[in-house]
Amino acid sequence: MKRIYFFLCLFLLVATLRLQAQRASDREAQADSILSLMTLEEKIGQLNMLTGNWEATGPVLNDRNKADKLKNGEIGSMLNVKGSIHTREMQTLALGSRLGIPLLFGQDVIHGYKTIFPIPLALAASFDAEVMALAARVSAREAAVSGIHWVFSPMLDVSRDPRWGRVMEGPGEDPYLASVMAASMTRSYQHPFEDGLKVMACAKHFAAYGGAIGGRDYNTADLSLQTLHNIYLPPFRAAARHGIATFMCSFNEINGVPASANPYLYELLYKDWNYQGFVVSDWGSIREMVVHGYSKDRKQAAEQSVHAGLTIDMESNCYAEYLPELVTEGKVAESIIDRAVRQVLLQKIDLKLFEDPFRYCNEDRENNELLSAANRSAARSVAARSIILLKNENALLPVKDTPRTVAVIGPLADSRRDMDGNWVMLSNDPIAVTLLEAVRSNYPHSRIVFEKGCDITGEDCSGFDQATAAAREADLVLLALGEAWDMSGEARSKGDISLPGVQQQLATEIYKANPRTITLLMGGRPMIFEEIAREAPAILYTWWLGTEAGNAIMDVVRGEVNPSARVPMSFPRHLGQIPVYYNHKNTGRPPQESPGNYSGRYIDISHKPRYPFGYGLSYTRFHYSDITVSTQAGNLRVTLKLENTGEEDGSELVQVYLQKLWGETTRPVRELKQFRQVYLARGEEQTFHLDIPYSDLAYYGNNGWMDGSGEYKIYLGRNANDMIYEQQLHIP
Ligand code: NOJ
Repeated sequence: MKRIYFFLCLFLLVATLRLQAQRASDREAQADSILSLMTLEEKIGQLNMLTGNWEATGPVLNDRNKADKLKNGEIGSMLNVKGSIHTREMQTLALGSRLGIPLLFGQDVIHGYKTIFPIPLALAASFDAEVMALAARVSAREAAVSGIHWVFSPMLDVSRDPRWGRVMEGPGEDPYLASVMAASMTRSYQHPFEDGLKVMACAKHFAAYGGAIGGRDYNTADLSLQTLHNIYLPPFRAAARHGIATFMCSFNEINGVPASANPYLYELLYKDWNYQGFVVSDWGSIREMVVHGYSKDRKQAAEQSVHAGLTIDMESNCYAEYLPELVTEGKVAESIIDRAVRQVLLQKIDLKLFEDPFRYCNEDRENNELLSAANRSAARSVAARSIILLKNENALLPVKDTPRTVAVIGPLADSRRDMDGNWVMLSNDPIAVTLLEAVRSNYPHSRIVFEKGCDITGEDCSGFDQATAAAREADLVLLALGEAWDMSGEARSKGDISLPGVQQQLATEIYKANPRTITLLMGGRPMIFEEIAREAPAILYTWWLGTEAGNAIMDVVRGEVNPSARVPMSFPRHLGQIPVYYNHKNTGRPPQESPGNYSGRYIDISHKPRYPFGYGLSYTRFHYSDITVSTQAGNLRVTLKLENTGEEDGSELVQVYLQKLWGETTRPVRELKQFRQVYLARGEEQTFHLDIPYSDLAYYGNNGWMDGSGEYKIYLGRNANDMIYEQQLHIP
């Protein structure tokens, strides 16, 4: 019987492999046959991506030039064309070209399409791959039913500088957390839906964009190969391993060579990582190589990018304009163009666009699915899981009773547009639930008083008196402070990331008026708010939470959801500490607290972050015990017992850090290598293990890739600065 079963399995395996090989060769044959019909101009058209300029100028149809280009097959893909109706219009034009090759529609779906999810940095704060996956899944579906084939996400730029405006779009400071996010979002975005629709994801920005000097957007990244490989590249590698369909290059130069044509990066991608997808430039980044001072002119820029391996030119027009003559002059071999075009055609085949170019355009489906109750409920649960409890004196939170009078105060308490944060594409029509609305619906029988108190920016304190009067009379104060939605995002770097305007002064007055004040801090980056950190009784860091912001905040305030999110990027106390990050090196003279020594401290400010990486509180308590560490074949195993000893059900983030004690290259004082959110009902306990594969210890050192064997300390931490357990061990 066993034998029959074995042969049956073997037969099925062989049959499946054959079928897969057959399909692979079918799609390749199809791509080759299309390619063989194409003129050089038509090929180059496939490498040209233009914007529909939807936001700025309305449909492309008004742009004769672009419409003609579509009809001539001079455009292979577009961005900023959204919705079934408009994508259908553009697709119809493209299908009228000689070969009728369908267009790809790409879009910045960064944290949702119509139903907006928390900003990616907040998703990272959830430290939960399932939460990230849920956000990606709903976003992919809403995009797909709106005619979009390609989402320009996940943004995987690790960054250690909260001044950089784009930290809101990314995974924070840690390469391991970023890699988990890369894997989870890639899989979730790209997995086909039941009706066969699927989207391509895009790992961006390749690479080291987050290393912009001084946190100034687009700035140069000047870094060692060790930093490049150990800090910035791991999430991109994870995305490639999980089959991400596309990459987008970054704007910046790396060690003198712009990423749009950096041979080191592309060799790594295509050769070392054996990447099979394609790479799109960032907006105009090919032509910007001239401004960088790398290319002599736009023609040379086109030559350099295509040779490096950059497949699609987004909005530079350099490929369209110069590749024909570069081929004629023999400077670019047509085979290089063919290879790039083939990569694009293969994706179009995989999306089944040749079978039905309009399969993503169905208005009824779009109307039914966007912003559905199910999508909103997903956004609400994801948002609640992204809120960090930073402080909770005297267990002020959760608020279990119903207050008679609630004062809702602050410039962000009723600010709908801000709740979505930056990078929302249908932002003309903000629909997010504000805090004030959610307070009203949560406490229908209470008296609710709203006072703005002050604006986000500016010096005007004239609203303070009314705000403090309202606070004095209330049983509960909810104080919503922070940045405006457009103070973070692309080209939104800040030299001062302190809470803007007079908001800290307002907070101080409110705390004096009523200590039953819960402070909600909203923004796209870790901000600096020292007075509030010291004086506030309770702080929730809510980021920008999207469509269900107000409801999710109230879920956490009332204890329907016990906060489980953690700090994904160290919060500085002072601007002068930046960059402050947990996985730094020890140096020969590590900083000491006490003055008067020759240590690597500041003499005027602390060297420690206000809130370290991995930090966050809960409404309950967790006890760790029975911790053992064993070395197994191929991995390191940490076994532990975790008990919820508090009064509430909740999740604990178990964090495992490693430190390689010595070796051919120094290594960081700690590196997160494994984590898990463990949910336990109150009183419940669980024994479980976490495994760290030895392959995850490999690092890029002074002599290239090292396997990571050697002497280590392993830690279990409540956060990167608070260790529960440590043990020294040898990894063979
Ligand atoms: C520039 C941004 O850097 C990139 O993230 C985005 O995808 C493109 N513009 C397209 O909008």
